[in-house]
Amino acid sequence: KNLKYRIYEEQRVGSVIARLSEDVADVLLKLPNPSTVRFRAMQRGNSPLLVVNEDNGEISIGATIDREQLCQKNLNCSIEFDVITLPTEHLQLFHIEVEVLDINDNSPQFSRSLIPIEISESAAVGTRIPLDSAFDPDVGENSLHTYSLSANDFFNIEVRTRTDGAKYAELIVVRELDRELKSSYELQLTASDMGVPQRSGSSILKISISDSNDNSPAFEQQSYIIQLLENSPVGTLLLDLNATDPDEGANGKIVYSFSSHVSPKIMETFKIDSERGHLTLFKQVDYEITKSYEIDVQAQDLGPNSIPAHCKIIIKVVDVNDNKPEININLMSPGKEEISYIFEGDPIDTFVALVRVQDKDSGLNGEIVCKLHGHGHFKLQKTYENNYLILTNATLDREKRSEYSLTVIAEDRGTPSLSTVKHFTVQINDHHHHHH
Ligand SMILES: *[C@@H]1O[C@H](CO)[C@@H](O)[C@H](O)[C@H]1NC(C)=O
Ligand SMILES: *[C@@H]1O[C@H](CO)[C@@H](O)[C@H](O)[C@H]1NC(C)=O
Ligand SMILES: *[C@@H]1O[C@H](CO)[C@@H](O)[C@H](O)[C@H]1NC(C)=O
Repeated sequence: KNLKYRIYEEQRVGSVIARLSEDVADVLLKLPNPSTVRFRAMQRGNSPLLVVNEDNGEISIGATIDREQLCQKNLNCSIEFDVITLPTEHLQLFHIEVEVLDINDNSPQFSRSLIPIEISESAAVGTRIPLDSAFDPDVGENSLHTYSLSANDFFNIEVRTRTDGAKYAELIVVRELDRELKSSYELQLTASDMGVPQRSGSSILKISISDSNDNSPAFEQQSYIIQLLENSPVGTLLLDLNATDPDEGANGKIVYSFSSHVSPKIMETFKIDSERGHLTLFKQVDYEITKSYEIDVQAQDLGPNSIPAHCKIIIKVVDVNDNKPEININLMSPGKEEISYIFEGDPIDTFVALVRVQDKDSGLNGEIVCKLHGHGHFKLQKTYENNYLILTNATLDREKRSEYSLTVIAEDRGTPSLSTVKHFTVQINDHHHHHH
């Protein structure tokens, strides 16, 4: 049986969020001794965020739940675990899913409080310059929604969305600039969310208007899209940029660099050669962590008052089957880790263990086929998604055989496929000892 609950993040430790004895009362009533049933949570880790009271099945907050830490920017944030009833002779399995809802506990923030910008007085009306993006770890309405610019006659902004979903603004020149009239501007750029109450953060744009008679460099294309296998080695050449500048000498010598607003993550993952415009991989990427990057590169000549040209490079990381499936076997035996105890004469379908498999890859690379070598006496039964029960498939006789070694095999569907094998032991106990 699946049970779903919803809670807000940052609730007081100890708050009760659900009572299983009430929520599954219908199931308990079908058991022989409903009042003596106990609840056991099968969770990983030593300090679970949610704790289950063994006697009454009360689920309460075990530690402060910070949605941003648990799920980063993922919209769907849940804590999932299983609860089984004891004693195991009449085992019931409940799958608990607790959705953690966001509260507006963070403001959008810029990484620098002052953004210097240089614009040529000959810049055409409509010239666009990408600006730093602010970051807000919250999600949905509580996340960065829009930008605004303080009132002025010469500049406007347009809010755009990058491939990774992040929002940024582009500064647009809306009227001809004249350095003799005004050579610099200080405008406030504000990023705000739509939470209740609304939160915002701001930075100052310090715009200098430069005198320029020189031709600016130009890129062949405004943007490029590149597919990058996640196992590509450091040093891989991603793009060979060829900006051109018709000027002679220093005025025509081009220097490539990342635009000043690119994030630290981009600067530590990629490198651009300033002379040749070679964009290379500086640190291995991991599809499971980041699926795409958007890099802004600029080309500037060495002449006086030179104005950079901008180019956008979108890197799409392609998944490679680089993670083995993981197998987690939960045995209900107190004490010894690798041994499950059952009693001789126990009926068919007696609970032996709970198996959970997972694979960090996506698509077929992350799809798992799970098998059990159970000597015909044990079977694997799927409960939901990647969770299985191991149950007896026969009534076992301790005199014939007192111990079985079982093997669980998890294999993904990637090419080539990766697999993991785990063993554990089932001991058949004498029924007399059970009763004394
Ligand atoms: C989040 O959950 C909703 C409803 O369960 C579903 O429709 C949606 O596709 C999920 N979104 C993601 C990003 O997993
Ligand atoms: C830039 O020029 C080099 C040499 O001619 C060429 O190999 C490369 O493909 C060009 N880059 C782009 C992005 O067109
Ligand atoms: C379970 O037992 C039945 C009947 O003896 C047998 O046909 C079946 O193959 C067994 N299942 C497994 C997974 O061993």
